[in-house]
Amino acid sequence: MSKTLPQAKPGILDIQAYVPGKSKAPNPAIVPVKMSSNENALGCSPAALAAFQDAGGRLSRYPDSTNADLRAAIANHYRLEPERLVFGCGSDEIFALLNQVYLEPGDNIVMGQFGFAAYAIGARACGGEVRYADEPKLTTHVDNLLALVDERTKLVFFANPSNPTGTILSDEEVRRLHAGLPGNVILVIDGAYCEFSRAPGFSDGIDLARTADNVVVTRTFSKLHGLAALRVGWAYAPEPVVAALDRIRLPFNVVLPGQDAAIAALADQDFQDRSLALVEQWRPWLTQQLGGMGLDVIPSEANFVLVGFPKAPDARSAGAAEAYLADRGWIVRGVKNYGLPDHLRITIGLEPHNRAVIEALSNFMKAKP
Ligand SMILES: Cc1ncc(COP(=O)(O)O)c(C=O)c1O
Repeated sequence: MSKTLPQAKPGILDIQAYVPGKSKAPNPAIVPVKMSSNENALGCSPAALAAFQDAGGRLSRYPDSTNADLRAAIANHYRLEPERLVFGCGSDEIFALLNQVYLEPGDNIVMGQFGFAAYAIGARACGGEVRYADEPKLTTHVDNLLALVDERTKLVFFANPSNPTGTILSDEEVRRLHAGLPGNVILVIDGAYCEFSRAPGFSDGIDLARTADNVVVTRTFSKLHGLAALRVGWAYAPEPVVAALDRIRLPFNVVLPGQDAAIAALADQDFQDRSLALVEQWRPWLTQQLGGMGLDVIPSEANFVLVGFPKAPDARSAGAAEAYLADRGWIVRGVKNYGLPDHLRITIGLEPHNRAVIEALSNFMKAKP
């Protein structure tokens, strides 16, 4: 019998596991308010909840592997060809599938310096190299991305708006990025937060994807629709891409209650409007209040704001602020793992929570340096 132990493939143990937003406060006596994972502060649509509960009566059944009803609902809602949709256990799974389908060891993906960590994890798991393009001004930079593309590049990933920065790329810039890519490189436009941007010149990328052979737009029910627990994501992609992803995805990757709740959520315009209104009301207020404290707030187009603090070891550093808020039950997101040790990301919450976080931070900032 061999004495050697099972070995992970080369590179696997060099991967830094995804760091989710914290959900616990250091003091167990405090019920914390989580503003660390860009979830929907309003919860989810009552109709989606009812559909989820109704699905409880069918838990012995496998879900529909083809997602036929959800597919039809999304196709109808966004006027898309149903056969060009592919579904995932969250949009996270779609990034992983894209990497698995297109990357051979030694191939590379290109993404922004502060881009969403899941793209890189999936690429590394396939033996791919991850190339990070500088993001001056914390914004996706078209020329820097294009400069890293070579004959072994298979995928270019970016989120619009981006996480954790909250910044956007205009439709014109996205089209310039696409025009600069060779036809065999897939441009992945991650629209997890796209509904939250109303900026002039912004587009969710779907119109570009309608006519391009190498554009994939991903979407999620986790943010606007408040169904993060159910893990429902989808992509609009060229048919050959869909055909490839569908071959390797797990057959029942979207759970039955998730499919039903997502259909109901999509039809609940009132809940979507209320969710957008909450962000539109409190994002400028938080931006202004944080700026008023002398902090460096990055103008956001998403349901969170990224805010820069004085550099550590200043007593008012981001790390000290995160701990100060956590002690009081306000959980925000340190983004050291994104290479932003002096920033915190705060998800837009309900009015009393937004006001309380600002009050706590204002007290924190008044502390003697
Ligand atoms: C930019 C971005 N893309 C994708 C996701 C993942 O979404 P899902 O819940 O659909 O996997 C997130 C989640 O935080 C995100 O921030």
